Amino acid sequence: MTKIRAAITGIEVFVPDYILNNKELEKMVDTTDEWIMTRTGIKERHILKGEGKGTSDMGAEAVKALLKKKNIDPSEIDLVICATVTGDMQFPATANIISDKAGIKNAFSYDLNAACSGFIYALVTASNFISSGKYKKVIVIGSDKMSSIVDYQDRQTCVIFGDAAGAVLLEPTTEEFGIMDHAFGTDGSGRIHLHQKAGGSVKPASHATVDAREHYIYQEGQAVFKFAVTKMGDISLQVMQQNNLKPEDISYLIAHQANLRIIEAAARRTGLPMEKAIINIERYGNTTNATIPLCIWENESKFKKGDNIILTAFGGGFTWGAIWLKWAY
Ligand code: UT7
Repeated sequence: MTKIRAAITGIEVFVPDYILNNKELEKMVDTTDEWIMTRTGIKERHILKGEGKGTSDMGAEAVKALLKKKNIDPSEIDLVICATVTGDMQFPATANIISDKAGIKNAFSYDLNAACSGFIYALVTASNFISSGKYKKVIVIGSDKMSSIVDYQDRQTCVIFGDAAGAVLLEPTTEEFGIMDHAFGTDGSGRIHLHQKAGGSVKPASHATVDAREHYIYQEGQAVFKFAVTKMGDISLQVMQQNNLKPEDISYLIAHQANLRIIEAAARRTGLPMEKAIINIERYGNTTNATIPLCIWENESKFKKGDNIILTAFGGGFTWGAIWLKWAY
């Protein structure tokens, strides 16, 4: 039987207008543009402003733009998966709210949480629905309003994160394009280094948790850094090796944009030159589930049909993974 693969056939993003630059952060916490640039490579990040605006608003804008660009009626969409760590609410799923806002009525939808690896986990999940032969048009969204869980009194984390959303359309192909292979890993013991302390079932919200500032991101930067470097590099290499791909066969490396130094180290471990690594962290910071779609979107016109692209991510959990993608258009 002919194998059905899932190919990315379109992408759109939403980036909020408001720009929070390093100079402004210098006024908020004890930091400098020089420190932030040297340690992270980030110059500015976009922040979603406006009362009552959340992750679904950015996701819905990206989806509406995608449907328009592809000239697709919302009723044609079969499935919507949203990767996020900053859902509008604990429940229902933000994917349901996005579908509602984008006029998608014939799809089922749900969220997927694998922290910063969420978007690539969602891509593979969606690709399996397509490969089953039952689903023809699936939208995967990576959307995070990180500013809603960033403590702007904590200089270690507030300089890193930004807000954005991206949405891709996946469609079936019987040609040798699309999502070709992947490798994923998870280590739950890593949760101690990166998490949100309160607001879940273990420690529901209370006056005490708010007073203790426990509803924000808690990150032990150095510990996460060490794992991110090794895991993104090694898993990318694993995907390349299991498909006999040499560094010269790879056109682009798209790594989760958490820190420029992590991307450089990951590229080194895979034997790929930095010219092949797509970088935009300087202008967006770490937008969690939106970093990879932002990189794809910015370079869409540069990609050629058949380009071998490695997508790789590392995030809270710990979670990590890599996908071998053959660009389909
Ligand atoms: O996307 C999810 C996965 N997350 C990641 O991949 C993030 C991984 N971690 C990192 O990117 C880095 O660890 C950070 C950017 C978070 C921090 O960089 P670092 O080079 O690991 O710095 P550090 O935590 O070792 O801190 C070095 C110094 C410390 O001061 P002392 O103890 O040497 O006096 C910090 O207090 O820098 C200080 N520091 C700052 N100084 C100015 C920490 N944050 C800042 C700041 N401005 N914003």
